[in-house]
Amino acid sequence: MADQSVRMVTAIVLHSVFFLSGASDDCYKTRHLIITAPKEMEALTGSCLQIPCNFRLKQGEKLNSKTTTFGVWFKNIPYFGKNGSEVIFNSSGTVSTYPMSFTGDLSQKNCTTLFSSLNTTYTDTYYFRVENRPFLATAECDGLQITVKDSPPKPRIEISGDVKEKDSVSISCSASTPCSHSPPQLTWNLQPDSHHMMEENTDRTFTTRIQKSITLSHEHDGFIITCSARYPVNEGKDVKTSEERKTLSVSYAPKNTSVSISPSGRVSAGSRVNLTCSSRAKPPVSRFTWFKTSRDAPIKVSEGDFYSFNVTDGGVYYCVATNQLGNQTSSEIHLTIGGDQLVGAQVIVKVLGIILLVTTLLIFECWLKSRRCTKPQEDAVGDDYVNMVVELHPS
Ligand SMILES: *[C@@H]1O[C@H](CO)[C@@H](O)[C@H](O)[C@H]1NC(C)=O
Ligand SMILES: *[C@@H]1O[C@H](CO)[C@@H](O)[C@H](O)[C@H]1NC(C)=O
Ligand SMILES: *[C@@H]1O[C@H](CO)[C@@H](O)[C@H](O)[C@H]1NC(C)=O
Ligand SMILES: *[C@@H]1O[C@H](CO)[C@@H](O)[C@H](O)[C@H]1NC(C)=O
Ligand SMILES: *[C@@H]1O[C@H](CO)[C@@H](O)[C@H](O)[C@H]1NC(C)=O
Ligand SMILES: *[C@@H]1O[C@H](CO)[C@@H](O)[C@H](O)[C@H]1NC(C)=O
Ligand SMILES: *[C@@H]1O[C@H](CO)[C@@H](O)[C@H](O)[C@H]1NC(C)=O
Ligand SMILES: *[C@@H]1O[C@H](CO)[C@@H](O)[C@H](O)[C@H]1NC(C)=O
Repeated sequence: MADQSVRMVTAIVLHSVFFLSGASDDCYKTRHLIITAPKEMEALTGSCLQIPCNFRLKQGEKLNSKTTTFGVWFKNIPYFGKNGSEVIFNSSGTVSTYPMSFTGDLSQKNCTTLFSSLNTTYTDTYYFRVENRPFLATAECDGLQITVKDSPPKPRIEISGDVKEKDSVSISCSASTPCSHSPPQLTWNLQPDSHHMMEENTDRTFTTRIQKSITLSHEHDGFIITCSARYPVNEGKDVKTSEERKTLSVSYAPKNTSVSISPSGRVSAGSRVNLTCSSRAKPPVSRFTWFKTSRDAPIKVSEGDFYSFNVTDGGVYYCVATNQLGNQTSSEIHLTIGGDQLVGAQVIVKVLGIILLVTTLLIFECWLKSRRCTKPQEDAVGDDYVNMVVELHPS
């Protein structure tokens, strides 16, 4: 049973492989007309689509310049249906079911077509046919898949080069442009707005682009670039918008490198201190190096994000944080044995307090004295007397 079904499956697979390759071989062997056009195109409802198209005939065949050349577009199938409904456009003017026109010169083998007022029901595979009696042929092997969507594709943000500080990078935002007659308007948050450029791609479709060069700094890291494309639709009466965002990730050498000490209070000989080096870097710091200054060159004393040691004497320490992009040196930290900065400050406050108090007392005393010396000469002598008398009275 199992064996049989395996054989059956094999037979089916073989059959379909044979059938498929047979069909396409037939198509390519017998074809009389070959077109050069994109295989797939995407367009927007209410807008238009330019189909770049050129054709050539089978070797030995030629267009007859004495008869008119008509171009025809079929949809869905590359031949006439039972009632001919698959012909949706004939440049002779007999059929124009869909709003199309040949902008290329058919006699020059240019079948470039403008497809306008698109709507989603036009999504289909299209086939080109040329009629130049007696020559009649359809490019049945070169189907063109057209997809009409209600919303436009997102623009594309591209950043060229290495994204690291101090480097200049070129940032661009580009949007597909199905129809060069109504290109999208691009705007982004990189001021000032840049010039619009319309570029022709190798397959002769178009791309609209804005571009800007910036010199990066670490402040650009995490910046979100927003680019929006506004496509005019319905003869410019409306607009359809799509938007793309991209976060800038900028590498940079260490920044804000600093040393902290713990415990932060007293440092006495023999006690243990822990110095910690911190820094901001992208990629993260790969090496922290500790140095102690000396009369000659600084001495490397340790490596690692912290340096813990027993204090024997004072000294001046600093750290250097390093990553692939560079290094940064912290400010110096002064370790003073037996000295406690907080205690020192308290002593200063106390001393200042005492000085202030003494000064105040001296001034006050002087003021009293001066009052006693000068008042009797200016005022009536009696005043002081009265005071004295009043003072003396109770005793
Ligand atoms: C013939 O055309 C009519 C519309 O005019 C359509 O409904 C029908 O499906 C077509 N028949 C075939 C076989 O294509
Ligand atoms: C296109 O129009 C011409 C001229 O009327 C006609 O001879 C020809 O048959 C038409 N072709 C198709 C595929 O309808
Ligand atoms: C074909 O015609 C189009 C529209 O007129 C034109 O832009 C294009 O340059 C032509 N292509 C060639 C290869 O001549
Ligand atoms: C889309 O096109 C078809 C065929 O031309 C038409 O019948 C239909 O009304 C159109 N739909 C819209 C939404 O415009
Ligand atoms: C430390 O970083 C902040 C912001 O992260 C920055 O404003 C400041 O200038 C930096 N300080 C130094 C000394 O680099
Ligand atoms: C460092 O000091 C601690 C006490 O603060 C002591 O226990 C330790 O033995 C000392 N280490 C050395 C290597 O002196
Ligand atoms: C020193 O500080 C770091 C963090 O800053 C901590 O991870 C480490 O355990 C501390 N070492 C000592 C010996 O206290
Ligand atoms: C820091 O970078 C400078 C310049 O690149 C280099 O000369 C120096 O040796 C580096 N210092 C450390 C500790 O890596």
